[in-house]
Amino acid sequence: MKNFVSMKHYSKHELLQLIKLANDIEQHGIQPFNQQLFAANLFFEPSTRTKMSFVVAQRKLGLEVLDFMSDVSSVKKGESVYDTAKTFESIGASLLVVRHPQDNVVHQLANQITVPIINAGDGKGEHPTQCLLDLLTIYQEFEKFSGLKVGIIGDIKHSRVARSNAYALSTLGAKVYLSSKTEWQDHSLPYQYIDIDDAVEHCDVVMFLRIQHERHENQASNDHYLEKYGLTAEREKRMKPHAIILHPAPVNRGVEIADELVECNRSRIFKQMTNGVSARMAVIYRLLEGGGITHEKPINQRK
Ligand code: CP
Repeated sequence: MKNFVSMKHYSKHELLQLIKLANDIEQHGIQPFNQQLFAANLFFEPSTRTKMSFVVAQRKLGLEVLDFMSDVSSVKKGESVYDTAKTFESIGASLLVVRHPQDNVVHQLANQITVPIINAGDGKGEHPTQCLLDLLTIYQEFEKFSGLKVGIIGDIKHSRVARSNAYALSTLGAKVYLSSKTEWQDHSLPYQYIDIDDAVEHCDVVMFLRIQHERHENQASNDHYLEKYGLTAEREKRMKPHAIILHPAPVNRGVEIADELVECNRSRIFKQMTNGVSARMAVIYRLLEGGGITHEKPINQRK
């Protein structure tokens, strides 16, 4: 594994290996790398949980974190994304984590830069580490993907989380359904659209998406969004007994999901955030061990 930019790149076997590695790391821990390594987190778009869970993951792996704030960097003098990334490579970063508002920028960088690159979210493109933590959360719940019905619900058109999850869940054998208001549907994705009530009643996993206001050309009114397209208390009662609720967060409480359901028994939203650390550790571990970097002991108590 050279880079981690798209969930389209992985087979079922490779995805399962990565999910199991993340699960293993969460349960048993991992020895940090035994040499000095620098990781640069290049976020050109706001983030709380992705950026901070990368920092935690990197520190747990013994990496030194080069923080970067685009607002006070030479980006303000007009430096390009490529020259910024090339600068961090030149000063010795072994790993670049990149978030950018433009689709495909991270893919381009991965072809231009020698050190491993992780896509931390590129425009409406993909968010593969968010997907991996979502997969880990589903795996911990059901211990399988084959035969599961997963409803991805909300602002599909502008969601990189929807794209990465739809690709990976299909590869893993889950049945993916999409549900969205008409103007946020994306028919380039080869999945069936169903009504919100059908999705909530029939799926084992209901994954609600944040409304991506920052990517909307026209700011439409979201009056009555919760009642029309969101998870209300009444809809939650009609979910299957074992079904769970996911959301990548940040959640617009009372819009995509009723406030009181964000932390209800079915919700795994904060568990997703916890899983973000081990999922990101697994990806970093895979990328850097492939570069010949050694651990004193790969993983404690591997099965
Ligand atoms: N889920 C997610 O990407 O959150 P942040 O934007 O806070 O990183």
